[in-house]
Amino acid sequence: MKKNKIALITGITGQDGSYLTEILLKKNYIVHGIIRRSSSFNTGRIDHLYNDRNLLNKKFFLHYGDIVDTSNLNRLLEKIQPDEIYNLAAQSHVLVSFQIPDYTAQVDALGTLRILDAIRETGLHKTKFYQASTSELYGKVQEVPQTEKTSFYPRSPYGVAKLYAYWIIVNFREAYNIFASNGILFNHESPRRGETFVTRKITRAAAQIVLGKQEKIILGNLDAKRDWGYAPEYCEGMWRILQHKQGDDFVLATGKTHTVREFTELTFKQLGIELEWKGKAEKEKGIVKSFNPEMNNVLISNKNLIGKIKKGIRVIEVSPVYYRPTEVDLLVGDASKAQKLLGWKAKTKFKELVGIMIDADLRKQIKNTDN
Ligand code: NAP
Ligand code: GDD
Repeated sequence: MKKNKIALITGITGQDGSYLTEILLKKNYIVHGIIRRSSSFNTGRIDHLYNDRNLLNKKFFLHYGDIVDTSNLNRLLEKIQPDEIYNLAAQSHVLVSFQIPDYTAQVDALGTLRILDAIRETGLHKTKFYQASTSELYGKVQEVPQTEKTSFYPRSPYGVAKLYAYWIIVNFREAYNIFASNGILFNHESPRRGETFVTRKITRAAAQIVLGKQEKIILGNLDAKRDWGYAPEYCEGMWRILQHKQGDDFVLATGKTHTVREFTELTFKQLGIELEWKGKAEKEKGIVKSFNPEMNNVLISNKNLIGKIKKGIRVIEVSPVYYRPTEVDLLVGDASKAQKLLGWKAKTKFKELVGIMIDADLRKQIKNTDN
């Protein structure tokens, strides 16, 4: 009988870790994940798997650990002997990395080295390693669109830490013949996205605003452009990267770019709210131009819960608190290599992505109101 493959995921409690776990379990993998000890629950995104008695400690295992703890990593690798390791653990917030640059480097740069070293220490020569690299490596972009060949110019301590991780992957691949790959993933979002990343911050707040639970959202740079895709598709791409015949580096992206402003407008539009913008820079405001709840099916069936949304009310403000000391103005990726060699292509379009996220947040807020 064919043996089930064993995967180890760091960052299993994050957005991507949770989707990747579901994908690998469906492919009959045994999945092990590293979770951090925390003073409050941090397993919300994987509780549905944790609470499944057919999975827990049969096909799905969780271990306490941290990628700053070398001996813990060595012990876990020795015990689990994974066929594939997906290193998704990171201090993943770009603005926060300016406040905790040393810690960000410990986790995002040296964390990758620690796992690679643990692979060597434990003699797991056949283990394949996926590194969660990022479009933040391109930073002040040297070329549009960005490909695997575009030069890097990171613009934050996060980007710089991930640059180290990128190159240590390449180096271990070349020096020790380890199957190690970088997935250079452009922004990917979902209803499980962390609430302080801009897309989720907007969809969550817009749902609260339309239900009268919040007055406004305060945002930073509205003109930054991102290439936003749908997270589950990108996690499938991670798996494909490790099924390639050799370790290599791949861009995963949609090839389309949109501003934060467009994301905001579309979110409100899907709730039936047309916005207009007044003022400039920090004085800019997003104001309700019109509201028609009949535009949204969830609102149509929950009319009694709609808040007082009137023409002229201010729902968006701008604050420099959310500006970055150095910004990444424009990201747009070219994923032709992944399409050609892996058969991977982003499917979900921008409008659909916004729809998935606002719908999920609206339903969540309505459910919370009912409880
Ligand atoms: P996320 O939701 O922020 O999840 C990060 C995960 O890393 C969480 O499980 C977190 O655990 C864990 N973690 C943080 N520090 C750790 C440490 N010291 N030891 C062990 N685990 C630690 O991030 P994501 O959006 O899923 O992204 C996954 C990876 O892809 C990250 O490396 C990110 O930098 C990279 N990436 C993301 C995108 C994107 O658009 N989402 C694009 C390119 C690259 P807790 O739950 O305990 O905090
Ligand atoms: N977070 C946040 N909050 N960003 C804001 C806000 C706000 O209130 N207002 C405007 N922005 C702008 C940021 O300045 C940035 O230009 C853009 O929105 C996207 O910010 P985030 O959603 O925080 O994502 P990111 O692009 O900085 O980083 C994400 O994507 C990277 C891949 O390119 C993270 O997931 C990284 O871990 C990932 O590597």
